[in-house]
Amino acid sequence: MTPDLSTTAPETTILEARGLTRHFAGPARLFGKTPSVRAVDGVSFGIRRGETFAIVGESGCGKSTLARLLIRLLAPTDGRVIYNGQDISGLSDAEMRSLRGELQFIFQDPFSSLNPRMTVGAIVEEPMQVHGVESSAARKERVAQLLGRVGLRAEHANRYPHEFSGGQRQRIGIARALASGPKVIIGDEPVSALDVSIQAQVVNLLEDLKEEFGLTLIIIAHDLAVIRHMSDRVGVMYLGEMIELGQTDALYDQPLHPYTQALMTAIPVPSPKARRMSEGLSGDVPSPSAPPTGCRFHTRCPHARSRCSEQKPALEQTGDERWVACHFWQEIKRPDAGLDAETVRGDATARRFELYRSWSEGKNPATPQR
Ligand SMILES: Nc1ncnc2c1ncn2[C@@H]1O[C@H](COP(=O)(O)OP(=O)(O)OP(=O)(O)O)[C@@H](O)[C@H]1O
Ligand code: SF4
Ligand SMILES: [Mg+2]
Repeated sequence: MTPDLSTTAPETTILEARGLTRHFAGPARLFGKTPSVRAVDGVSFGIRRGETFAIVGESGCGKSTLARLLIRLLAPTDGRVIYNGQDISGLSDAEMRSLRGELQFIFQDPFSSLNPRMTVGAIVEEPMQVHGVESSAARKERVAQLLGRVGLRAEHANRYPHEFSGGQRQRIGIARALASGPKVIIGDEPVSALDVSIQAQVVNLLEDLKEEFGLTLIIIAHDLAVIRHMSDRVGVMYLGEMIELGQTDALYDQPLHPYTQALMTAIPVPSPKARRMSEGLSGDVPSPSAPPTGCRFHTRCPHARSRCSEQKPALEQTGDERWVACHFWQEIKRPDAGLDAETVRGDATARRFELYRSWSEGKNPATPQR
């Protein structure tokens, strides 16, 4: 029986994972049983209506799989997804069709997600055809509006994806995601393939659209400074499990889990405080086919003791808005572990965002920089 750890009040929750699990078939073995890859393993948390929720963790820890499960691009092996009070985990593809427009995805690589043989206009129009905007004239008008809203021009509708830069292609992907009237948009590394200057423009655009369209955003990004800049709350994943969850500022100011503390050292800031944190992450992530017993982090944790390999720590509520899965979080709490708001907000990334915001506000949004 999975404990109810929805982490938000039901009336404010738009999306909830309950014991969400997805195992994949692992690579075939010549002898013996093929072990399954436990990409997401018993994750429970809730996402609030209108918030930006970030999912962080090292490569392979299950972020993309969790994101796909949350909007039913993937079916769970076990557990449930509750969207607006409705259990959507067992819905068939046909039953999901009516909800598909409300739950949208923005991909890391906009080029491979845009059909190269379709014009931009057809790409943005397609979701409206699927989701019932009947008049062709109304659809065309809406395409022009959406292209304008993401900083492209109406005449771009007649061109093909290869005629655009990476940043412009991501804007096309965003316009397409908006076309079906979404309530939740998941961005899986939506800016990491873009040039640094373009990243800031796209992040700013997403933030503006979130306000304007009343969206709930779920963001996956490797850049922890981008996460701090954008998100209200953060969930930290390790080997398929959620190991810490909290409000962004509080979690960055004082990460409680040793893994989160180690992740914070990866933020490249020239700060004496950052240099004081000597325990970075050592060793490789263990295989998700054979995760360590007890606490999955015990093979890399500088604080591990015998209980850690024997008993799995539960995700425990440690404060108003804070959850952590570590037996010894109180003992190992380090007042110097966090990166204070000034350190991270004052770093080059945040300054870059401010700079580009003020710079782009003075310009015609219809002519974004390439
Ligand atoms: N379709 C699949 N079949 C088999 N294994 C898969 C499949 N999709 C993901 N996995 C495995 O599940 C685990 C989690 O993968 P996932 O892509 O969710 O991680 P991630 O945190 O998004 O990583 P990254 O940061 O590199 O994108 C990995 O071990 C991955 O190899
Ligand atoms: S439970 Fe033990 S191994 Fe796991 S994070 Fe806490 S101290 Fe480290
Ligand atoms: Mg991924």
